[in-house]
Amino acid sequence: MSYAEVYERWKADPNGFWMEAAEAIDWVEKPSKALFDENAPHYEWFSDGMVNTCWNAVDRHVEQGRGEQVAIIYDSPITHTKREITYVELRNRVATLAGALRDKGVTKGDRVIIYMPMIVEALEAMLACARLGAIHSVVFGGFAAHELAVRIDDAKPKCIMAASCGIEPGRLVHYKPLLDGAIEQAKHKPEFCVIYQREQEVAQLTEGRDVNWHGFQYGVQPAECVPVEGNHPAYILYTSGTTGQPKGVVRPTGGHLVALNWTMKNIYNLEPGDVFWAASDVGWVVGHSYICYAPLIHGNTTIVFEGKPVGTPDAGVFWRVISEHKVKSFFTAPTAFRAIKREDPNGEYVNKYDLTGLKALYLAGERADPDTIKWAQRMLGVPVIDHWWQTETGWAIAGNPLGIEKLPVKIGSPSVPMPGYDVHILDEGGHEVGANTLGAIAIKLPLPPGTLPTLWNAPERFEKSYLSHFPGYYETGDAGYKDEDGYLYIMARTDDVINVAGHRLSTGAMEEVLASHPDVAECAVIGVADELKGQLPMGFLCLNAGCTRDHGEIVRDCVKLVRDQIGPVAAFKLACVVDRLPKTRSGKILRGTMAKIADGLDFKMPATIDDPAILDEIADAVKRLGYPQAA
Ligand code: COA
Ligand code: AMP
Repeated sequence: MSYAEVYERWKADPNGFWMEAAEAIDWVEKPSKALFDENAPHYEWFSDGMVNTCWNAVDRHVEQGRGEQVAIIYDSPITHTKREITYVELRNRVATLAGALRDKGVTKGDRVIIYMPMIVEALEAMLACARLGAIHSVVFGGFAAHELAVRIDDAKPKCIMAASCGIEPGRLVHYKPLLDGAIEQAKHKPEFCVIYQREQEVAQLTEGRDVNWHGFQYGVQPAECVPVEGNHPAYILYTSGTTGQPKGVVRPTGGHLVALNWTMKNIYNLEPGDVFWAASDVGWVVGHSYICYAPLIHGNTTIVFEGKPVGTPDAGVFWRVISEHKVKSFFTAPTAFRAIKREDPNGEYVNKYDLTGLKALYLAGERADPDTIKWAQRMLGVPVIDHWWQTETGWAIAGNPLGIEKLPVKIGSPSVPMPGYDVHILDEGGHEVGANTLGAIAIKLPLPPGTLPTLWNAPERFEKSYLSHFPGYYETGDAGYKDEDGYLYIMARTDDVINVAGHRLSTGAMEEVLASHPDVAECAVIGVADELKGQLPMGFLCLNAGCTRDHGEIVRDCVKLVRDQIGPVAAFKLACVVDRLPKTRSGKILRGTMAKIADGLDFKMPATIDDPAILDEIADAVKRLGYPQAA
């Protein structure tokens, strides 16, 4: 069947389409139907089925005779370590870890926060939670204690699983003091923490609270898989919104299993047994879906890579991993390719490795710029597939489904909507716009299986953030257009979210941190274009009247404050002091206009601007920071 036929088949009978896809999953009790719209607009899928994620990702492959197949390859150039774990080993390790958690009182529905680097044990922790029906929430290691504390207070975990340290080029990330600091800041206290001691750093355990990862598993009976309802939350993953309070995206169990399994053949064109590599981090949605769950559910081999595209040790490491482990499909963010291209523009490292096993490269997480795509096409000689998705959806909204049909690639477009997604481009009033006209990208409800039914603890915020602007639609927060062939183009965010090296960050959260500085009266943070990372945050600080402190010192304080409060991942290094911020007459800061000035783009003078002269001051300030970059 062609893509058009598959898409039409889904449209004609969504229930039948997803029930058929659900047959690839092992259910303890089969669901009676696919869509449950009783609580609309909080749509659910497969709610009355009973199922277990860990069984589907691990045990069933052992039962089906795949026990000796490698499930996970750990390749860590940063520690010079490699390891392979078969499905049977994974089953045994996860069952024992789950048994130890169960013996400490973790049961179905309890939340468990996982704060770990890119090691196999992070996946085992996720799967052990899934085995028990506990709801995990993985927090990215590049977030600082305050961000962890905010998530602890929202998720209220019974347990936190952490490692003693992460390893970044040239430095250790000391997780234990960050963890202790977060627990101290949080109102909610976990009952216990499990600490995985790495050989690079052994952390001092806190008596009465911390247990040792290995010690607490000693003599434990392995746990069986606990069946849960199809709509039981598999995990919560926090993502940036417009404020400092992150949104807890809820991932429901049944839809997650069905949708992810469907994508592995239809989008990534893989058969069970093939090696799949997503070079991301388990702290992000790409890591949840495509390092951990989808490849394992589908019976593939997945790679846990602890390193960077460049510098660990060189710009050839991706090619070394692809050739050594026989990777068939590879997934990463465009920023990683920009980093490699910058160091090895002529692809000298590419030529050193046998990449004939690689069949396709998938890019997502940020806009894939044409230069990067063309360079990747030239270097690798395989289809370069841009696909577009969000933490909220958990899998691609739009892509080029190689397992169904390879559609012509149009550079700059992540191609066409996947079955399940009815994508529309709307104007401010919610009316559909014509081809090649920019508008807000919205998806007609219901969203497909695997996508968020709500936000954790915040159903009203879910409705307000996503459903209220365009009734009957999910608002993606992205703006773009469709061409006459129905190809989508994703151009910008419509909110205060920026994308730094494929990481989604909230400028609102950074403003909240800057505003807490005692000398700062008012501030604004915008995203400016950056050649390597796509965007970088830039802060503008207005100081309290009478403040006589050195401006450089205040800027340094502010940079440190954001690093300490949000984390190094915010990459907040550009800031300046200005007398005033440009505003509308009603007092709204004109961040969009400021961003255009910093990027050197033409802009229309906002009709409601209070004092146009302030824009010249902003232009001078960004110039002092070296922007626009081309100037
Ligand atoms: N734990 C602790 N700190 C982390 C971290 C982690 N897991 N990940 C990143 N950081 C730190 C980095 O060390 C860096 O700190 P520094 O300011 O002391 O240098 C900071 O956060 C910013 O990191 P990053 O944005 O990753 O930039 P980088 O300069 O280290 O590397 C790239 C640049 C392009 C190589 C890198 O961004 C990259 O590989 N990106 C891939 C994107 C990706 O995987 N996105 C996921 C979505 S698909
Ligand atoms: P995240 O939730 O971190 O995955 O970030 C999702 C956001 O990243 C989207 O809303 C887009 O703004 C951006 N994004 C992800 N993939 C793409 C893509 N292929 N093209 C353009 N933007 C993308």
